[in-house]
Amino acid sequence: MNLYRLLAALCASCAILAAAAQKPAAVGLPPLAAPPAAQVALGKKLFFDRRLSINGTLSCAMCHVPEQAFTVNEIRTAVGMEGVSLRRSAPTLLNVAYATSMFHDGRAKTLEDQALQPLLEDDEMANPDIETVMHRINAMKEYHEPYKKAFGNTRATPERTARALAAYERTLIAANSPFDRWHYGKDANAMSATARRGFVLFVKNGCASCHTMGEKNALFSDGQFHNTGVQARTEALNKQSVTYTLVPGLQSTMDPETLARISVPDQDDLGRYEVTKQRRDLRAFKTPTLRNVSVTGPYMHDGSLTTLGDVLDFYAAGGIPSDKAQDPLIQPFAMAAQDREDLLAFLNALTSPDARTFPR
Ligand code: HEC
Ligand code: HEC
Repeated sequence: MNLYRLLAALCASCAILAAAAQKPAAVGLPPLAAPPAAQVALGKKLFFDRRLSINGTLSCAMCHVPEQAFTVNEIRTAVGMEGVSLRRSAPTLLNVAYATSMFHDGRAKTLEDQALQPLLEDDEMANPDIETVMHRINAMKEYHEPYKKAFGNTRATPERTARALAAYERTLIAANSPFDRWHYGKDANAMSATARRGFVLFVKNGCASCHTMGEKNALFSDGQFHNTGVQARTEALNKQSVTYTLVPGLQSTMDPETLARISVPDQDDLGRYEVTKQRRDLRAFKTPTLRNVSVTGPYMHDGSLTTLGDVLDFYAAGGIPSDKAQDPLIQPFAMAAQDREDLLAFLNALTSPDARTFPR
């Protein structure tokens, strides 16, 4: 227990001391209690350890790459065990501490609930069961001391391992962007005139109704699930031709009839529906934060839009209006060349100076 917390606990009314026990709030984000340092250190070690996968090849950090804003920039969807392409793209873990559910379909509630799942997924770290992983960690002497420091006991358990990974992930905070310093920090010069015009357009065109902002801070996500038309677009494109990975790094395109003759077709991604089985959740995906979006591409749950310009063109056209189940908040809007430039400048101004500087 750190000194401030101890003092704060002794004198419950000392609001100032209690606040000092928290990390100083990053400009633009709500304050967050700092996770215990020993748990963070253990979680970080686990996050980068490839020996946690069945054959020692994959760590969490290989799909959530620190230098690539804790996602993968080079490919649409992450590559998992034995080079198979996953069906969804790896979300950035920057500011994931604030997420109200995990995965594009929200099927896990907390970071602790989420942390052990990739260890067991067949196409991710592919371990047969969690005991196998715990056994492997416990057999490594170098983990005894870190578990002891974090939890007072040298033994790895699923619960301790999940808590440590979650503690590390909660330290991946990246705010203080030009937008934050301008809007919340009241520094008139922190954001360019073009980005300021872009902000007006962002609000005017309804973006902020899902990518929400508060009085004192902004997550740029309502934590809800919406059908934006992205999945309908992907399915329409797949009817024309299908791009698939032959071996890692080598992609090929085939017409759908040929592919159907030689393989079992991928099941379409039903989004949030897969969790709730409610018709209204069909093709709905979690609203992602737009913080650091300039460095987290490619975009959307399947990485199907490559640049932020592509994303803006998609929205300006009103998504896929022929998808009758699309969220009515997605409406076409006029976007002159200057508007497009302004909106791009605004999205770029959401980039934190810390987005790519987390040490390994
Ligand atoms: C093979 C690539 C791969 C590996 C390895 C991997 N992930 Fe992921 N991660 C993904 C993908 C893809 C998703 C999105 C899956 C979905 O939505 O169904 C994801 C989602 C997440 C999320 C949810 C984030 C959000 O905003 O919803 C967290 C947290 C996360 N991973 C943490 C981890 C941790 C911790 C590890 C290691 C124990 C790990 N990942 C290993 C690819 C990977
Ligand atoms: C109806 C709610 C809604 C509205 C309105 C909306 N978005 Fe989105 N946005 C989403 C959802 C949901 C996703 C994720 C879709 C997916 O994964 O397939 C998304 C994804 C994005 C992404 C990609 C982020 C990433 O990391 O992949 C960007 C950029 C974006 N929106 C910008 C905008 C802009 C700019 C506007 C206004 C023109 C806007 N959004 C309006 C809900 C909305």
